[in-house]
Amino acid sequence: MDMGRERLTWGLLLRVGILLTAVCVCIHVYLEKGRWGTPAPLALGHPTHSSRDWVQQSRTKQVSAEAEELGRSIKRRISYVRTLKKDSPARKRDADRKDPSTPCCPPPRPHRKQTPRWHIDLEPWASESHSLEDEAKRFLNYITTPQVSCASLAIEEDAQERTKGDWAACLDPKYSLTHRIQSKHCRVYSFGLGVDDRSLEHTLTRAGCEVHLFDPSLKQPHSQQAEMWLHRLSVDWRDPNPAIVVQRQYVSTKKLASILNDFGHRQVDVLKADMESAEWKILENLVLEGVLDSVGQLLLELHLHWAGFEVGGDDPSVVRYWFSLLKELEHASFRLFHVHSDPAKPRLFLHKNVLNASSAYTLSWVNTEWKP
Ligand SMILES: *[C@@H]1O[C@H](CO)[C@@H](O)[C@H](O)[C@H]1NC(C)=O
Repeated sequence: MDMGRERLTWGLLLRVGILLTAVCVCIHVYLEKGRWGTPAPLALGHPTHSSRDWVQQSRTKQVSAEAEELGRSIKRRISYVRTLKKDSPARKRDADRKDPSTPCCPPPRPHRKQTPRWHIDLEPWASESHSLEDEAKRFLNYITTPQVSCASLAIEEDAQERTKGDWAACLDPKYSLTHRIQSKHCRVYSFGLGVDDRSLEHTLTRAGCEVHLFDPSLKQPHSQQAEMWLHRLSVDWRDPNPAIVVQRQYVSTKKLASILNDFGHRQVDVLKADMESAEWKILENLVLEGVLDSVGQLLLELHLHWAGFEVGGDDPSVVRYWFSLLKELEHASFRLFHVHSDPAKPRLFLHKNVLNASSAYTLSWVNTEWKP
């Protein structure tokens, strides 16, 4: 008697369950149809199914298996909707309506700048042996061989103690900087950590450039001194975590793209940076985000005594990565016109003496395709 009633209850529950499932399937099919009917967002070059679609699809499968006995026809309708969605003539029609210039066929490839790149292109090894010596030889040869000549160098003039010529910008009229100075459009960004020589910045300020000095140790967020702008900021290869921004009172580091954006600057005529071994990841960020297009001349201090922040791998791989980064600069039309190394610096290359290389080199490139 009891057993019988229990079975009856379970049977009832099961039936209600199946009925509910069927209703769910119907609603789902209805929604799917509705979604399919409205213009679907056109994802360029991406697979047509987002992860949400994938989840929904597997859920549909599960439900339809449960309700198989109830509604084979419904299931058929689901697959019908799916098929339609897949080759989606309606989508194509939508695309046509949106962009009449592309009648059918694949959408035009977006400009390189808009495509986020996730890694730089590694150059082939210098030799089959992958030895540190071969990598170092190629790299050192590369950074000490200017690729273009500059007839007129703006060099820092503080000759009292330091050797002349650590930092140099190019004022050769075949490149844009002189013209930008004449038309009073010249803008300079200088990134350094505290005790850095500012004489090139003073020279460029006197020449009429708008010079921005970035130093995260400053007290005020923005100020002006000796006709130069001072900002309590530094450049980084990523923007700070929003959680940290909330905790702290202010942000002290940003990506160059964000700084340009915040300041409303489209271009920088001279970008000078001594980032104490963060230069590799920063350079990588500039390459990957296409920010180099906004830079006319790049003056960088390279530090070679260790791999640098967040640069990993064995020694030959590190040097190959450094070399590949500089080749990316070359691919972006940058040409080396000046190199300087302080002979008093220690002879340390990845913690050891390799080919008597210095631990630091100051290099200057000009963007030969730059038309601000
Ligand atoms: C290494 O380089 C320094 C600085 O350029 C130079 O004075 C020294 O003679 C070099 N040593 C060798 C062994 O080449």
